[in-house]
Amino acid sequence: MKMLPKDLSEMKGKKPITMLTAYTCPVAREIEKAGVPVILVGDTVGMVEMGFDSTRDVTIEHMEYHIGAVRRGAPDTHIIGDLPYLTDKDPNTALVSAKRLLAAGADSIKLEGPKLDVIAHLVANDIAVVGHTGLTPQTAKSFKKVGGTSSEAQRIMDEAKDIEHAGAFMIVFEHIPYSLANTMTSSLAVPSIGIGAGPDCDGQVLVINDALGLGDYWPPFSKQYAHASQTIFDVAKAFTSEVESMEFPNNIIKLTGTDKR
Ligand code: KIV
Ligand code: NA
Repeated sequence: MKMLPKDLSEMKGKKPITMLTAYTCPVAREIEKAGVPVILVGDTVGMVEMGFDSTRDVTIEHMEYHIGAVRRGAPDTHIIGDLPYLTDKDPNTALVSAKRLLAAGADSIKLEGPKLDVIAHLVANDIAVVGHTGLTPQTAKSFKKVGGTSSEAQRIMDEAKDIEHAGAFMIVFEHIPYSLANTMTSSLAVPSIGIGAGPDCDGQVLVINDALGLGDYWPPFSKQYAHASQTIFDVAKAFTSEVESMEFPNNIIKLTGTDKR
């Protein structure tokens, strides 16, 4: 059964919220089957699936394509769509962009930073918004942890409060000190979802490629629950060896015994 924004908000203080990113139909299908309540189609797709160096290369068309694929795989799961770089640069541009992602299959929209007028405008137009503070990759100059000084910590804390007041129903905290995430989580009414933000958030999100071990770099705060890149390498090696030795397709023809199917 699909979770609504209010169902997710009400999980705060009751049950940790699990969120995974997904970009493709078969991955989304398994995540839904596993009972994960919310999928984020993040603009990380640009880096982990498309090979760009930055999420700034992601377009609204890329996001529509991936949200559509994820929706077809996970028809009954709450899907958050990320607004790519500059598609949320002012309230009206953001509204047009958000409507495109909703039409592609998203249930809610996420955007980075304290764009309070944008968030308020989307919410006024009945669009559910997820905030994102701490490290905000679209504008960050590095991927280092932020919020380590007391002035930065105060700024992030103020941002989170402002994002909540603007109407967001949930906020992602990316790569901030664990103690700051703890303080912010207890001072917000809406759930916090952490990535590299420690154990005290209301939920946790991982980039699915990081969790799968699919890629050639994984952030230190992520965990590899599988080794998909190794599996792909092994499959490619095994197939090559069987084609070269002419074992394949003879070995499967023997199994099926016919060329009629
Ligand atoms: O794009 C994304 O996957 C994200 C998460 C890292 C929170 O924004
Ligand atoms: Na993102």
